[in-house]
Amino acid sequence: MLVTRRRRQIVIIGDAGVGKRMLVRTFLDGIGPADAMVIRTSARVGAALTPYAMLADLARDVLGLAEDAEPHEVERRLLRALPLLYPGDESSREARTALQILGMLLGARAAAPAGEVDAETRRQTLIQLVVRVEQRLDSDKPLILFAEDVHWADQDSQELFAALLKIRTPRPILGVMTSRPDPRITSSPRISRSRSCCSRS
Ligand SMILES: Nc1ncnc2c1ncn2[C@@H]1O[C@H](COP(=O)(O)OP(=O)(O)OP(=O)(O)O)[C@@H](O)[C@H]1O
Ligand SMILES: [Mg+2]
Repeated sequence: MLVTRRRRQIVIIGDAGVGKRMLVRTFLDGIGPADAMVIRTSARVGAALTPYAMLADLARDVLGLAEDAEPHEVERRLLRALPLLYPGDESSREARTALQILGMLLGARAAAPAGEVDAETRRQTLIQLVVRVEQRLDSDKPLILFAEDVHWADQDSQELFAALLKIRTPRPILGVMTSRPDPRITSSPRISRSRSCCSRS
C-alpha cells in the first residue's frame, strides 16, 4: 500500500473466537502514529438492523466519544467539529443537515425526529460528510480503516462504505475487515473471486 499508494481491502474470515481481532490488533500495534492514521468501527450483534449503526460507531471513534456519552456531550463535540469540517460555512444548509443527522445517529439532545430527513437526503449528506472528514484528515498520511465483525453490519452502513470506496482520493487507504463465515459476506462476488486460502481444516 505504501509503495504503490493504492487502495487495498482485506477481509479476514474465520469462525467465532479464532483470533481475528487479535491478529488485526497485533498488526495495528506495529504501526506508529507517524506511519498511518487508524480509524476503527465495529458492527454489533444487536445493531444489524439499526440504520447506520456502524457509521455511528466510526463517528464516535473519530470524535472521541464513548458509546454511552451523554446527549449534551455528543452535542458539544459535534458543535466543536462543525467549524473544522465546514470552515466559514457552519450555518450552510449542508452543515446544518449534517449536524442534525449525525446528532440523531449519536443521540444528541437537540436531534430532530428521524422522519424529518428523508432516506436519500440522509444518504447523500452522510456521503458528503465522510468525504469532508477524509479531506480534513492529516495531509496525505495513509488511512487504515478497521471494521470489525462486518457479518453484523447494517445494510445502510454497508451501502455507504461501498459508495465511498468508489470515490478516488490521493491518499492510500487500507480497509481491514473481520467477519465470521456469514453467507452475506462470503458469497459477495469480490470476496469469492479473491478467495485464496485460510479456510479452517
Ligand atoms: N494467538 C493467540 N494465542 C492465544 N490466545 C489467542 C490468540 N488469538 C486470540 N486469542 C484469544 O482468543 C480469544 C478470541 O480471540 P479474538 O477476539 O481475537 O477472536 P475473534 O476471531 O475476533 O472472535 P469473534 O468472531 O468472536 O469476534 C480472545 O480471548 C483472545 O485473547
Ligand atoms: Mg472479533
